[in-house]
Formats: sequence, structure tokens, C-alpha cells
Amino acid sequence: MNGHPFRTLPATGAPLRVIVVGAGGMGRAWLGAVLASPDTELAGVVDLDSEAARSAADAVGAPGTPTGTDLAALAAETGAEAVIDVTSPAAHLPVTLRALDLGLPVLGEKPAAASVAEALRLAAAAERSGLLFMVSQSRRYNRQLFRFRELAGRLGDLGILTTEFFLAPRFGGFRDAMAHPLLLDMAIHPFDTARFLLDAEPVSVYCHGYNPAWSWYAGDAAATAVFEMTGGARYVYTGSWCSPGLETSWNGAWRLSGAHGTAVWDGDTPPRVDANGTPSAENSGTPDGAESIEGALAEFVHALRTGTVPRGEIHENVMSLAMVDSAVLSATEDRRVHVDEVLDAAHREAIATADDTEREILASWSSVRTALTRPCPTG
Ligand SMILES: NC(=O)c1ccc[n+]([C@@H]2O[C@H](COP(=O)([O-])OP(=O)(O)OC[C@H]3O[C@@H](n4cnc5c(N)ncnc54)[C@H](O)[C@@H]3O)[C@@H](O)[C@H]2O)c1
Repeated sequence: MNGHPFRTLPATGAPLRVIVVGAGGMGRAWLGAVLASPDTELAGVVDLDSEAARSAADAVGAPGTPTGTDLAALAAETGAEAVIDVTSPAAHLPVTLRALDLGLPVLGEKPAAASVAEALRLAAAAERSGLLFMVSQSRRYNRQLFRFRELAGRLGDLGILTTEFFLAPRFGGFRDAMAHPLLLDMAIHPFDTARFLLDAEPVSVYCHGYNPAWSWYAGDAAATAVFEMTGGARYVYTGSWCSPGLETSWNGAWRLSGAHGTAVWDGDTPPRVDANGTPSAENSGTPDGAESIEGALAEFVHALRTGTVPRGEIHENVMSLAMVDSAVLSATEDRRVHVDEVLDAAHREAIATADDTEREILASWSSVRTALTRPCPTG
């Protein structure tokens, strides 16, 4: 994979000292992951709400941890070396910009930012700082998914990938009021996984969003999207968040069809393959490695220690968000959307809203797609 070089931190043998910003539901999960990992040490917790930061540290059994509302002050006080940004999506841009400006590499929750334009600004800011900004797509860190990807190698040319996602969660709160709750809040996971499985990037999408008559959501709780991918494969996603009964897993149910056979994965149990007329149940040979956010955290620390560009490095990750925004635009305007159209519009918006040094970097990109995959010049 091409990648963007970034400054490494020497492997001293000491754990990486990390500040977690954002002490909500997912922030607490990250606090647990940081405390459990031998690679990291919890230096502090920051939240707009000082009481939320304090009670989150208490809740995860780390009551002595420094907490506060000011990242710069807590970073200076604690000598933190990196930031995990688990704030709400609207805060990803300011919080990650601030951390990079303080000289701290960042591991951020998905989505990279609230829009592709903001994500492009963060890619430029990462280039400017020479620091790593990696987005955690936790569902990529799944041993069965890695196995599924290996099995794809037996299928020859890959032509059709499908995901069915049918669940019926009753969240309450902001998702119930969103215009496209499924696409905006959840679909980035399978879209990102599709890129990983096909080793391909999105070219265009036609997406139909709709809301079944019995839905308890205000916006479209269901959608079907057909993506054309580079190399010609099609990725077809059909999902609903208001479909009780015989529900799929939270990873969705996957089928991959190639020239020599088919592989399937229900998202919960080991994938199966039938290639060249030979079916096999795949119960062994599952690769090692930490899963979910623990896997993302391990890859982040490894990247900082070695300079190996991780999956989820901001340039690599933007395309997953571009798939979401392209699908939403297609559903809204009821037409096929070329992803480059979304990237180009986001590029213009990013240039219009960036500061001077970000703008200079963004303006030097002749093509957004190329800038997202090409290694940037060193030195
Ligand atoms: N990977 C997954 O499976 C998964 C699951 C749930 C949530 N998430 C992601 O995690 C992130 C957080 O989600 P959540 O459910 O914990 O949200 P949440 O609303 O429960 O918590 C967000 C916290 O961030 C704080 N915050 C907001 N702006 C801030 C700022 N500028 N500075 C400091 N703190 C700020 C809020 O006060 C709040 O405590 C989101 O990006 C979400 O998409 C990922």
C-alpha cells in the first residue's frame, strides 16, 4: 500500500503515554483498551464536560488519572505522546487539528471527520505536521474477516461482493431523527470492509434510500447501494435498521463471487469457500492478532514505533467516508454519482475553509484521488 511518511517515536521499551479526548460511551471503551494494553499508558482524559472526564476515569478503575477540559494544558502537564480522539464526529476536525498542532500523533474514531471536506483538511494537516493521523475502523480488525480476505485469493477475478445488513435496534436519541441514519452512522463499516476485501476503490454509486412503513426512524432507515469499483467489480449493499426477526450479525452477511467460485461469511462464524468445485469449511488457520479497537490500538503503536504505514492512515481512509457521502448524495438526488465528483467538491470546500498552510498543501494536489494514494515527497 502506498502511504504517507510520518515521524516515528523511538521504541524505548516504555509504554506510549496517551490522552483520550471524548469520555462518552465509546470513550470509555477506549479507556479500557488503553489500560489493558501493555503498549500504552493512560496519561489523561479530556472532555468538554469535566465531570464526564472524571467519572469516565473512575468508571474504568483509573480514579487517579489527570482529567480536564483543555487538551494543551493536560498534554503539557502529563508529557503525553499521543491522542485518541473519541469525540462526536463534529468535533473530530478541531480536536485532531489541535492535537497535531501540539505535535501529538492521533488515533481517531471513525468517521475521520463530519464531511469529506473536513477529512481532506485533516489529511493536509497531517502532511504539514509530519505526524501520523490514523482512523480506527474497528470492524476491520476481525480475524474471520482476514480469513475471508485470504479465501478471496482462491476465487480468481473478483466480480460481485454483497452485504446484507438487517437489524432492529431501538437507539432513541440522535439516530432516530437523522435523515439517513443507516448510511451516515453505520454503513461506513461495510463500505470500508468492501474496499479491504476487493482491494479496490469506489468509482461510482447508485443508492436508493427509503423508510419502511413501520419504521420508528424519522429518516431513511433502509438503503440499497450499488457501487462500481476500480477493476470493474460491483459492491452491492442492502441494509435496514428496522427489520426484526432472523437478524444478521452487526458485521452483516457477505457473499463474494469470483471466476473460480464463491466465499461467504455471516459476520459471526468462520467464512466458507467453494472454489474450483471444492467446498471447504474454514475452521482453522485463522490469523492471530488483536481484534476491534484493541487491534487498531496495537497497529497505531506499531506504526509509531516502526514507521510502517497503518491501514486507516488518513489518506487511505478518506475513500470510506467518500463512499458514504456519495451514497447519500445519490439517494438525495436520485441519480448515479461519480465519487470523483464528491471528492472534487470536497476539495474545493476544503480549500475555501482551510488555513494558509493547509490551503497550500491542498492546492498542490492536481487530483484528489491521486493525492490520497500517492506517497508524499519526503524532506
Ligand atoms: N467503532 C465503533 O464501533 C463505534 C461505536 C460507537 C461510536 N463510535 C464513534 O465514536 C465516537 C464517539 O461516539 P460516542 O458514542 O462515544 O459519542 P458520545 O456522544 O457518547 O460521546 C462523545 C463525547 O465527546 C465529548 N466531546 C464533544 N466535543 C468535544 C470536544 N471538542 N472536546 C472534548 N470533548 C468533546 C462529549 O462531551 C462527549 O462526552 C464517534 O465518532 C462515533 O462514530 C464508533
